[in-house]
Parts: sequence; structure tokens; C-alpha cells
Amino acid sequence: MDDIFRKIDEHSKKHHVSPWNGTFRDYLPMVIEHPGLAQLAHARIYDMVRSCGVEVDEQGNERFNFFARELFGIDDALAKVVEYLKAAAMGSDVGKRILMLYGPPSSGKSQLVILLKRGLEEYTHTEEGAVYAIADCPQDENPLHLIPHALRQDFLNDYGIYIEGELCPMCSLNLRQKYDNDIYRVPVKRIFFSEKERVGIGTFVPSDPKSQDISELVGSIDLATVGEYGSESDPRAYRFDGELNIANRGMIEFIEMLKADERFLYILLTLTQEKNIKTGRFSLIYADEFVIAHTNEAEFKEFLADKKSEALQDRMIMVQMPYNLKASAEVKIYEKLLRRANIGTIHIAPHALEVAAMFAVLSRLEEPKMAGLTLVKKMRLYDGQEVEGFRQKDVKLIKAQTEREGMDGISPRFVINRISSSLIRPNSKCINPIDILRAIKDGFDTHGTFKREDRERFDNLIADVRREYDEIARNDVQKAFFVSFEQEALTLLDNYLDNVEAYLDDKKIIDPLTEEEREPDEKLMRSIEEKVKVPESGKNAFRNEIFRKVAMSQRRGERFDYTTHDKLKEAIEKQLFEERRDTIKLTVSTRNPDQDQLRKINEVVDTLVRKETYCVECANELLKYVSSLLAREK
Ligand SMILES: Nc1ncnc2c1ncn2[C@@H]1O[C@H](COP(=O)(O)OP(=O)(O)O)[C@@H](O)[C@H]1O
Ligand SMILES: [Mg+2]
Repeated sequence: MDDIFRKIDEHSKKHHVSPWNGTFRDYLPMVIEHPGLAQLAHARIYDMVRSCGVEVDEQGNERFNFFARELFGIDDALAKVVEYLKAAAMGSDVGKRILMLYGPPSSGKSQLVILLKRGLEEYTHTEEGAVYAIADCPQDENPLHLIPHALRQDFLNDYGIYIEGELCPMCSLNLRQKYDNDIYRVPVKRIFFSEKERVGIGTFVPSDPKSQDISELVGSIDLATVGEYGSESDPRAYRFDGELNIANRGMIEFIEMLKADERFLYILLTLTQEKNIKTGRFSLIYADEFVIAHTNEAEFKEFLADKKSEALQDRMIMVQMPYNLKASAEVKIYEKLLRRANIGTIHIAPHALEVAAMFAVLSRLEEPKMAGLTLVKKMRLYDGQEVEGFRQKDVKLIKAQTEREGMDGISPRFVINRISSSLIRPNSKCINPIDILRAIKDGFDTHGTFKREDRERFDNLIADVRREYDEIARNDVQKAFFVSFEQEALTLLDNYLDNVEAYLDDKKIIDPLTEEEREPDEKLMRSIEEKVKVPESGKNAFRNEIFRKVAMSQRRGERFDYTTHDKLKEAIEKQLFEERRDTIKLTVSTRNPDQDQLRKINEVVDTLVRKETYCVECANELLKYVSSLLAREK
């Protein structure tokens, strides 16, 4: 409880930044002391993104915490967006272009823009992100525009603050009439961006191209007041309330930009190129805003092919937003979307989202061109896992061999829809990986947009994922059984270590029962090592490493804890599983288990529930599933 109160307090503290009202005379010393206040739009947004922290990985790629809570696995695309902002912030011509995101549906384009918008709203509530504006300007104009041109070079030399742009017609008129040309008297206030209140953040959605009015972008003449001021070119008779007007100092999102009529696009062109809006009967009005647009790929291609659009194309920086290609990141996407979907008390079994994610990622991957690399291996490699015969370093080359990877395939939304539809089935308290794969498969038919060859390809991928899952399922059961076999495991471990010691010291082993001497049991050692793919050529290194760890524990007077060595633990588990397979098979597949078998089964279910995130229902399903697998193997 306290926690939420504390959080609310913190939030209010941050958001109740005291409003500030003053005059340009008061503002001037402030901006000189904090030149950050004079920042232009791109620079402010760039700083905002960086202010949350940046992590650099081993390959030197930057990851921005700003995006990390909502967007997963698309760091490359995000880095390009930030690169654009950086260049624009530094004043390069890049800032005079529209940032255009294009990609397949549901690849996170809107989400990215939402993050920027919400982030910017928050940021203007902070000290570093504060924005001040001429108080009675309908476009929240930068107060520094009051500094006469003749003084601007000096201002730059003396304070390092660059001023760009002219007073808007409204402010010019006010300066003359209301403030007697005394710039000191012009009122200034602190503003807080808010999309809802139409401050600093605009959004344009194209509707019917023929009927949509340009005033949505640039405002309009207020016919009711024209009479009062006598002229259409009196700024007081104009409503500067178009999306471009209100987005001044901040950003404007252009949704499905290429669906908009050309007239709108050309206004945008002028805005980005000249930083001007053509409004009413006024000369061009300066505006400073970050324009971010998005579109789907089909429209984008059409646009590129259209000769008429060349001027516009030149004025855009295109950033491709492909689907995420990392299975573990894909799971995070589903978790995020399901958290919002309010799925109630339905349990999602372990690995259920994982299999869906594997399928989705596989559907997006291009067939590998490298010898020995299968699609599944490629998926694992992309996800940062170890894959025999390949290294993480190879990923770059593998990616270079693709054409448009990530631009096709199954969208996260499709998967979520399928998961939701299996959730609403009556009587389901828990959905497991097999349910989900089935639901996805059913979706191919009900979803009209898939071509037949796609459907075939997807069916095959489902089969691939199923095989992966079989392995995972066995592993879980194996691990759980293992808990009941703890003592046996320790015995097996001791046996292995004795053999390894004798092998390394080139000694014989003494049988504890018969006290007879015999050679170390190479077959046993190799059998265990092969379980974790230690090659013959690497066995000495492996044994030495294990033994160093054992010796270290002994020096500290402790017993070697094999569970801290993941590989050895896995190897011992697998070996034991193999040795006990028949027992396990018998236990789980018997229709009428005896007392002892029943006890074992219950123990295993109990372990799955306690140690993993299984519920009783899916734990039992898992056992059934694995026993059918074992039965098939005979
Ligand atoms: N890489 C990703 N990371 C996190 N969420 C994602 C990702 N890609 C898509 N999503 C989620 O999927 C949903 C659809 O994405 P959206 O941004 O609306 O797609 P678009 O605008 O590209 O069609 C959103 O809820 C979004 O958060
Ligand atoms: Mg969208």
C-alpha cells in the first residue's frame, strides 16, 4: 500500500512543476544561464532519448533504455532513428527531412511514435526538458525570436546560443500594438507538451483524400471575426490551430502518410525543407518540429516507383522497421500484450509463449544460405544461443546474406489474437504449448490473407517448433524426475569424478566393493560428456576444468557442488534420465500405477509446480505428453 502512495507522491512532485509566468525581460537571463532552454525540437527529443541511459554491447551497438520497456528486439531500427535525431540535433540538413518508418503491419511503428510522444510530454515536466514560449502566441513560439536579427550574431558569439526563425504574424502584431515594440514586456510562460491539449504534439490522420481540408494541417480563417478586423490577412482573424501549428517546438506524427492527398504532402515538404508553414494570407511562418511519418510497405513501394514523388523522396529519411527476430524478445512482446489483455485467472503454461514466439520468428526468417545452418539453428543463433558449428560473430555475415528478412511473416498481433481465441474457450483454465500451436495452425485457415504456399510453409514450421518443444518437454520432465533421484545423481557424480581423477592421474581405480583395481571407465565418462556435446578432442579440457573446480572446493573444505556447473549438471541429469528411462516410462505411462509409481508421479508433478511455473493441470498434461513421446520411441 505504502508503495502506491509513495509512487503517487513522486509522480505529483514531478508533474506539479510550478507554472512560470514572466516577461521576456525575466526570461532572458534564464536562457543565458541555461542555454538548453533554447534547444530546437530535434535536439530536445534527442536529449530526451539519451537521458534515460544508453547501454553499449560488445559489438559497440547502442541500446537506448528509453525504448527498452516497450520495444523489444529491434535495436537496429531504433538505433537508426536515434542516429537521425542526433544528426538533426547537431544542425545537419538531416533535420530538414521527414523521418519515415516503413515496415510490415504491427511491427511497432505506432508504438515507437507513442513512446516518443509520451516521453516528450513527460520530459517537458522536467528541468532539463523545460520549454518556454511567448505566452500569447497561438503557436507557442520561441521567445528568442524577439531578439532582433541585427543582434543575433552577437548573441551567438557572447552566449553560444543560436537563434533561428521569425516572429509569427500574431506576435509581430502584438509586439507593435500591445507592447509598443518593447520586447521586454512581451509575456513568457513555461509550457508543458500534451497531445490531448494540443500543445507541442500533433497528429495527422489522413481520411478521405478529396474532402479532407488543408486547415487540419495549417489552421483556417475565422470567418466570424473577419468582419471585426476588417481583413482576412489580419492574424487575429486566423485560427492557428492546424496540427502543424500546434506541433511547433515539438513533434508531429503523420499516420499512414502515403495515404494522404498530395496537397498535404507538399505542405509537409515546405515545412521540413524551409521550416516554414504556409498559412492563410501571411508570409511563411517559421516552425520548428520533428516530423515522423509511417506507412506500410506496399504503399511505400508504390510511392518509390512513382516518378512524381521524387522531390518528396529526397526529403525523407527512410527507416525500415522489420519484425523482431529474436525469440526471447518476442516472448516479451506477448507478455506485454497479454498483460494488457486482462486474461483473468487463466494460466499460461511454461513454454507456451515460447513456442508461439519460435514459430513467429521462424516465419520471418529467410532460408539460410550458409552450409550446415538450418532455419532453427539460425533462429537460435539470432537469439544469442550457442549453436554447434557457428559463433555469434557469424550473425553479421548471415544477416548480410538476407534480402528482406523481417519484412514478412507472422505479426505479433496475429499470434496474440490466436492466443486470445484459445483463451476464450470454455473450461480452459490453463493453456499449454500444444494448445497454442493448434490455435495458431487453426488461424491459417480462418485468416483469409495467407497464400497457399505460405500456409504450407507455416505448417512445416509448426512441425519444426513441435520438435523443438518435444525436446524442451522431455527436459522439464527429466529435471523434475531428477529431483526424486537426487541421491542417485550424487552417486553417479561421485562415480564420474572418481573416474576422471584416475584418468587424469593416469592411475587405476579401486572398486569400493571388491577392492579390485581396474582401468577408468572411459565408456561411462564419454557417455556422460556426450550428453552435453563435449567432443572427443575436448574431453581432456573438460575433465581438467571439472577437476580444478573439485580441487578448489576441497581446498576450501567444501563438497563440490555440481549444480553450480550448468554443463555438468545437465550431463548428469541426462545420463541418469537415460539410465532410468524405462522406470520413468513405466511410471508415467502406466494406466494403473501402483503405490510406488503413484508416489513418484505425484512427486514429479509437485516438483514441476514448485520449481517451475507449472500448475497441476499443465504439469499432468506435460507428463502425459512426454510419456506418449517415450512410448513412440519404444
Ligand atoms: N518489437 C516490438 N516490441 C514490443 N512490442 C511490439 C513490437 N512490435 C510490435 N509490438 C506490439 O505489437 C502491437 C502492434 O504494433 P504497432 O506499433 O501498432 O504496429 P504498426 O504501427 O507497425 O502497425 C503493439 O501493441 C506493439 O506494442
Ligand atoms: Mg500503426
